[in-house]
This record gives sequence, structure tokens and C-alpha cells, in this order.
Amino acid sequence: MADKALGRGGRKSEKDLKIRVKTAKGRKVSSTKWLERQLNDPYVARARAAGMRSRAAFKIIEIDEKHKLFRRGMRVVDLGAAPGGWSQVAAAAVGSTDANPLVVGIDYLEMDSIPGVILLKKDFTEDDAPQMLTDALGGHKADLVMSDMAWPTTGHRATDHIRIMQLVELAAYFAVDVLAPGGAFVAKVFQGGTEHELLHMLKRHFRSTFHVKPPASRQDSAETYLVAKGFKGKDSADGTGGDNSDG
Ligand SMILES: C[S@@+](CC[C@H](N)C(=O)[O-])C[C@H]1O[C@@H](n2cnc3c(N)ncnc32)[C@H](O)[C@@H]1O
Repeated sequence: MADKALGRGGRKSEKDLKIRVKTAKGRKVSSTKWLERQLNDPYVARARAAGMRSRAAFKIIEIDEKHKLFRRGMRVVDLGAAPGGWSQVAAAAVGSTDANPLVVGIDYLEMDSIPGVILLKKDFTEDDAPQMLTDALGGHKADLVMSDMAWPTTGHRATDHIRIMQLVELAAYFAVDVLAPGGAFVAKVFQGGTEHELLHMLKRHFRSTFHVKPPASRQDSAETYLVAKGFKGKDSADGTGGDNSDG
């Protein structure tokens, strides 16, 4: 009976509208599940409708809604920028233009250009990457360092954990080097993965630190975001003052 598939009032319910993808010959079950998830993901549709490069764009929008990271005119560094969603959001939020670019992004992947964003195709872990970013900032300090970097996982939990923490640590030390007083740092970490030492270091350098799981971050993913606000300045990490309210 055709009506059986319809919800109240003859409209199809959301459940019924779900697109199911059959496992095609040669396609792995995991790829099929990924495709099915993409097709049914409201954030993917919203990203496409808004001209965003990635659904990840909504994560930084939601983090900003909660923590008010962006201000017009501020300088932003985007680590692990491809395909460019966060950079797009940052450029729009700070009012960056090609004539006066305020956003610098880096990724080892090739990216299409984004208006108002200087993009570097480079592995951030290479020794000369921080200097290249500083040069791209035109010698100015940054007001916000964002990192959405993650290596592709190997499937070996302990190895993945160490590799991800190394990236976050590098990003955090870079932030401490490059931020102007009052600046902020936001980075992807993995649940249970924020090393004590890193959090301790951030608490010494920033007035407050928080863990955030934005709604756009899939519930079944272990990723979460660390936000550190109120940079005290490179040489003033005396561990005093500030609310240091992690949570
Ligand atoms: C989740 S994606 C970022 C998505 C991005 N925030 C957006 O909104 O489109 C993570 C990115 O980090 C990059 N990445 C990982 N390790 C990196 C490294 N060592 N140097 C530069 N980029 C890196 C990956 O290439 C990948 O493009």
C-alpha cells in the first residue's frame, strides 16, 4: 500500500525520505555507508546551499556562536584548511578581502582559491612552515589560530592518538608564538586525547580554556574542540590570574 510510506497528512516522514544506497559491485561497505550518510546529512545539504566548501564550516560557526571568536578586522590562521570551509567562514566574519587579506590558510592538499584568503600548500609539520605563515601575515601577529588538522587514521588507536596529539601540540606552540595578547586558539582534539601537559600549557598562557562538541560534529565521532581564549602574551605565562574554566 503506497500510503503506508506516507506520514500524517499524506507527507512522507523524514525517516521514509532517507536515501538508501545499495552496495555497488566494487564499492566497499564502508564507502556505501559514508555515501549514505553524506546524502542524508542535513549539514551537507546546508553547506552546499550556502556555497560552503565543507560541512565542517558549521562546526566553526557553532563554536563561534558559543565563544564569540571572530571580530571584524582580526587576523586569522587556519591550520589544515582544505577544502576551505573554515577559511570561508573566517574571511566573511573578519571582512577579509584580496586587497587586504586577513586570513592565511595552510594545507598539504591542493585547494581552489578563496577570496580574501592567502593559501599555502605546505605540510605544517615542516620546519619552515611557521615562518612561511608569519611571512604571509605580513609580519603582523594573529588574533586567532584555528586548527582542524588531523592525519588520516592508521586504525591503530595508540599510534593515531600520538600522531594527532603531536599535531595539536605543534599548533598550540605555534599559536603561543604568533598570537597577539588577547588572542584565541581553537583546535580539534579527540576525546580523552587532550594531554595533561598540553592543557596545562594552555591554561598558563590563556585566561580560559574549554572543551566544545559543536552539534555539527557527529555524535559518533570522538572529535571534540579545545578553545583557549584571552592569550596573556608570550612572556607572561606565570600561571596566575584568569578563570581557567575548562568545561
Ligand atoms: C578535517 S579537514 C579540515 C576541514 C576544514 N576545516 C574545512 O572546513 O574545510 C583536515 C585537514 O587537515 C589537513 N592536514 C592534516 N595534517 C596536516 C599537516 N601536517 N599540514 C597541513 N595540513 C594538514 C588535511 O590535509 C585536511 O585537509
